[in-house]
Amino acid sequence: EKGGYDHFMLKEIYEQARSIKDCLRGRIYPALGKVQLGGIGEYAEKLKNVDRIIIVACGTSWHAGLVGEYLIEEYARIPVEVEYASEFRYRNPIISDKDIVIAISQSGETADTMAALEIAKERGATIFGICNVVGASIPRFTDAGLYTHAGPEIGVASTKAFTGQVTALTIIAFYLAQQRGTITQSKLIAYLTELEGIPTLVEETLKCNDRVKEIAARFKDANNALFLGRGSSFPVALEGALKLKEISYIHAEGYPAAEMKHGPIALIDEDLPVVFIATKNASYEKVVSNIQEVKARGGKIIAIVTEGDTIVKSMADYVIEIPQTDDAFVPLLATIPLQFLSYHIAVMRGCNVDQPRNLAKSVTVE
Ligand code: F6R
Repeated sequence: EKGGYDHFMLKEIYEQARSIKDCLRGRIYPALGKVQLGGIGEYAEKLKNVDRIIIVACGTSWHAGLVGEYLIEEYARIPVEVEYASEFRYRNPIISDKDIVIAISQSGETADTMAALEIAKERGATIFGICNVVGASIPRFTDAGLYTHAGPEIGVASTKAFTGQVTALTIIAFYLAQQRGTITQSKLIAYLTELEGIPTLVEETLKCNDRVKEIAARFKDANNALFLGRGSSFPVALEGALKLKEISYIHAEGYPAAEMKHGPIALIDEDLPVVFIATKNASYEKVVSNIQEVKARGGKIIAIVTEGDTIVKSMADYVIEIPQTDDAFVPLLATIPLQFLSYHIAVMRGCNVDQPRNLAKSVTVE
């Protein structure tokens, strides 16, 4: 059932070209410049006019929510707040019937996320779900939503469900942009055309496995690691750090790259691997200067770069190339090498990759 792979996690990493394609199917029509959401129904009008969106989730799904925040604010120009479900539910949140709350949950059973939705519904908000497991408690409770269609995820560490959630949020962002007129038709056509090609670029990106494995061998004995990114690559950094800590038990932290000098820079020495997401996008130059700061202090730099990059390549100790794509879609590609990195390090350390200690696939207690 592992389809010839050593672990479910590896199989699920490799499934991502297919799972993203399944998530896009029937929802985007690049030639027409159209996004269609079947599960929205009677809420289309409310979505179009909403003043604020609140995303609630836990763990990896919360990271996907942060990517969603960047996308929805950038393209649809709607303010988004991303909340840990466990904090939201106990904070007496300010919420009304004008709000839309989006819950993100692979399992659809996470207790804190469910409880957050109960409060939001009680206070009159419209509830949307982005879930993977069909018919689970959360999708049954929501007013409307999207399934990610990633297929069953067995590995406890979330991989294809995360990219599925990011894909669903990308679709929602462009749907909202279309409905609200915050994007021109020609731009929408261009974005959707690029988005439709993402599964092919994911296929390309998956070829980095051998390269990442070599890098993993070099860093398998590290005690700590830092993951840095800017913009929508910041949540990718958080996700890379979470993946590493949960399956390899290496202490890792994700930070917005510019925050480094407000504290974590003190950690940097020759033994600290620092993973940068340094793709060619709006914040490239800023990230390059952050790389210089780490280099000057002797940190070991692993950088995820855009194919053909030369500047970061000349500075970093190790680079992993991913294909060029628009800023909007970088998280879907940049996540993949980080999944491989944590996977190989965990295997090399003899860890139980699919069932890490102390973790459960679905957290049904608060
Ligand atoms: C990490 C991971 C967890 C889950 C979190 C929420 O790899 O899997 O952080 O993302 O427990 O679970 P769901 O998405 O099922 O609500």
